Amino acid sequence: MSNQQQQTVAILGNGVVGVALARGFAGMGLRVVFGTRDAEGAKTREALAAVPGATAASFAEAARAASIAVVALPYAALQEGLQAAGAPNLAGKLVIDPSNPLDWSTGAPVMAVGFTDSAGEAVQRLLPEAKVVKAFNIITAAHMVNPKLPDGVPDMFIAGNDEAAKRDVGRVLEGFGWRKPIDMGDITASRLIEPLAMLWITYGVRTGHWVHGFSLLGQKK
Ligand SMILES: NC(=O)c1ccc[n+]([C@@H]2O[C@H](COP(=O)([O-])OP(=O)(O)OC[C@H]3O[C@@H](n4cnc5c(N)ncnc54)[C@H](OP(=O)(O)O)[C@@H]3O)[C@@H](O)[C@H]2O)c1
Repeated sequence: MSNQQQQTVAILGNGVVGVALARGFAGMGLRVVFGTRDAEGAKTREALAAVPGATAASFAEAARAASIAVVALPYAALQEGLQAAGAPNLAGKLVIDPSNPLDWSTGAPVMAVGFTDSAGEAVQRLLPEAKVVKAFNIITAAHMVNPKLPDGVPDMFIAGNDEAAKRDVGRVLEGFGWRKPIDMGDITASRLIEPLAMLWITYGVRTGHWVHGFSLLGQKK
């Protein structure tokens, strides 16, 4: 990203993913503003304490102030959260989408959509003029920044319609300690990337082991 020192990132959501990515961006020298339903609440205060220099505002104020946004919201909250942020406030901006379309209604997560739709596409529909890039959804929040697993650095798959926005996300990922990401194509490739998160979760549930990630061997040089 050019001029990244002057850039502001709106982290829409103050949960575990929001805080993890906010810490990464703050560590790269970017200004961080959390967009939240309750800028004065205890959860927001906790998020601010975890991210030195960060501030908090409404979803709309954060989106307006930023040149980059992160959708750190549950799938079920995408519509409400992004409508609160306001599509015009994010028009033309890079929007990084780590969300997974998980349905928790039975207690154990299952994919809420797949094959013909994805959370990435839902975010792009809600923010038609934003440059949405799917990224970070296939790793636990604890490893989104400095993803050093005992046997190496995993790969990150990304997807999005805007080539320059994907290059920007590549620079973010490399700044966070990832290798160059694997670009799977336009935002519809989220249909392939999001089920990998379900594979990640299923492996964790079956083994009780939560420190893992994906790697694509034999990549084209
Ligand atoms: N956790 C992980 O390791 C992980 C890894 C990869 C991808 N993901 C994906 O990343 C996304 C965020 O996950 P998370 O673990 O950070 O979730 P989380 O800790 O539950 O945080 C969710 C955030 O969304 C906000 N929110 C919930 N419902 C809302 C609504 N109706 N309107 C506006 N805001 C709402 C919450 O705000 P309030 O405090 O106001 O409720 C909170 O800030 C999810 O899509 C998840 O599938 C998670």
